Amino acid sequence: MSATIIPIAVDTATAYGRPAPSHKKDLTEVGPGTPMGELMRRYWHPVGLVSDATDTPRKLRVLGEDLILFRDKGGRPGLIHPNCAHRGASLYYGKVEERGIRCCYHGWMFDVEGRCVEQPCEPEGGRARDKVRQPWYPVQELYGLIWAYMGPPDKKPVLPRYECLETLAEGEFLETDDNSIGGGGPKIIPCNWLQHYDNLVDPFHVVVLHSTFSGTQFVEQMAVMPNVTWETAGHSVRTISIRKLADGKTLHRISEAGLPTLRVIPSPRIGRYGMVESLGWMLPIDDHSFRIYVVGRVREKGELFRMRSRLNGKLWEELSEEEHRQFPGDYEAQVSQGAIADHSAEHLATTDRGIVMLRRLLLQQLDAVAQGRDPAGVSFDPAASPVAFAAGNFLLD
Ligand code: FES
Ligand SMILES: [Fe+2]
Repeated sequence: MSATIIPIAVDTATAYGRPAPSHKKDLTEVGPGTPMGELMRRYWHPVGLVSDATDTPRKLRVLGEDLILFRDKGGRPGLIHPNCAHRGASLYYGKVEERGIRCCYHGWMFDVEGRCVEQPCEPEGGRARDKVRQPWYPVQELYGLIWAYMGPPDKKPVLPRYECLETLAEGEFLETDDNSIGGGGPKIIPCNWLQHYDNLVDPFHVVVLHSTFSGTQFVEQMAVMPNVTWETAGHSVRTISIRKLADGKTLHRISEAGLPTLRVIPSPRIGRYGMVESLGWMLPIDDHSFRIYVVGRVREKGELFRMRSRLNGKLWEELSEEEHRQFPGDYEAQVSQGAIADHSAEHLATTDRGIVMLRRLLLQQLDAVAQGRDPAGVSFDPAASPVAFAAGNFLLD
């Protein structure tokens, strides 16, 4: 008698043969000449604290470009390409003087706009020195930050001011912080900026990651599952999270992701109700790292720094590897998505609607720039009123 062979159904959906990872290049890569790099270069970006620009040259990396920040002894900040226009020695080794920065190799001196003002070894101090220009970018100082415009000179918008940083109540003052508050980890976050930008329109992670998975990171109310809607509002995507609280009141929490890297996130600790207290700007350092500068209205010195997340009662850098594993926060979730997340393997669900809208808003701006139009959220009117947002925590009876 021959044995009956029962065919075994083979589950072919294993990890074997899965496609190689790939990411949305247009949305993530920020180097010169890339679509997103060109879009980013149509806006002003904070590149340091005002106190970072001194007579000691400082290395910066911004949007994939290496730069040198300094402040001449006349008090003017300058942002220049590192390699000297003569024969390329780095101006990092330069000496800052009254009129600019002097290269260590042959002493050529450049002012904050890259003009070559001295060539000491050349006859008559350099007869043709006016023909030389060190590559430079315009900078401005506002809200305790140095802002740079790295785009086409004829498209330079005005540096925006913001209503929530211009409207100060009695006893409030502005504080500026460069510790990447909101990033959940160290100053430099080693992943693509879009992973954090996506996170700004993802209110459901507040309930899981921040309120249950790793304990209560903010306040108990954040653990209530919200009713969420999203809307595109010109130059931002707005997330409206409505929570019915145990005392019968309703919490309306409105946050926004503003173009191109703006965090408009009301405090998840809900110390006060009303208009958003602070703004954060992500600065893409390159395709694989970013940092966050924050400016906020505070009542006590150091208030912004105290907003940093604590997990298991500790700051991120105080946690052991085992504690990072047991108490993950924003840093662990976003950095573990990869240096650049594998977008081809994503399964976006209904709760990711905000992410779809935000990426669409970015794609529309890429199109605008490609077609010679200005992206949303730039203004060329020096008298324009400060930019206003709807973001805040609002309690309704
Ligand atoms: S390389 Fe800078 S002055 Fe010669
Ligand atoms: Fe978060």
